[in-house]
Amino acid sequence: MEPCLNAPLAERLKNETRALHTSAERSVFMGALLRARLERPAYCALLRNLHAVYAVLEPALERHAHRPTIAPIYLPSLWRARALAHDLAALHGEHWANELVLQPAAMAYVERLRELDVAKPDLLLAHAYVRYLGDLSGGQMLSDIVEKSLYRDGVAAVAFYDFGNALATKELTQAFRAGLAVVPADARQTDALVSEARLSFGLHQRLFDELAVACAVVPSGEV
Ligand code: HEM
Repeated sequence: MEPCLNAPLAERLKNETRALHTSAERSVFMGALLRARLERPAYCALLRNLHAVYAVLEPALERHAHRPTIAPIYLPSLWRARALAHDLAALHGEHWANELVLQPAAMAYVERLRELDVAKPDLLLAHAYVRYLGDLSGGQMLSDIVEKSLYRDGVAAVAFYDFGNALATKELTQAFRAGLAVVPADARQTDALVSEARLSFGLHQRLFDELAVACAVVPSGEV
């Protein structure tokens, strides 16, 4: 995809991460989740690693909520750390934080977010875009799959995907997109945000690959 340098931020983010999105969606790990073939420990490993990301991202967004780049997309009802902690306690048990390990990619992700928090807070917007629009979009498809295929003692836990009812979810998506549309970003800043979103997709891809190895998830057709 050729970058169109004059296009608005939202359009560039979408167009210039499209191929990376397709790869992430088709990764062995996410593919297994989509086919309801992921075992509960592997799913908990995913949630635990994502929790580490949100646990750093959300306080950082809060700290920088006053900045013109962050303020338009500052929507605390999107926050996922607490929902993930709930699902992990339900699906793994109360000691999930100590018992489930972080993959190197998640640690690198956390490190990157800490760097941005200190030195380049405007770029946190790119991570909010990748995570929250992803959760509001594809996440809603995953919710049904997880609800039907992953239980502990007969109980499913899908707080991660729960932003309220369909209308509330749609309104939050619209609010995030409306925010993106008014973020003040010149061409240089837009380049930096697109490049940061691509970096985020790359770290996700690495995380999915590491989780596939750690949890012995094999491509479909090899079982
Ligand atoms: C598990 C497989 C996944 C499925 C089935 C899926 C599906 C979708 C769908 C249907 C959309 C809406 C597309 C549209 O409105 O045109 C979407 C958007 C999005 N997804 Fe995913 N997704 C998946 C994984 C991911 C992952 C792993 C990430 C992030 C690392 C992600 C990030 C996004 C983002 C940022 C958007 C918004 C794109 C935009 O409109 O700008 N998705 N996804």
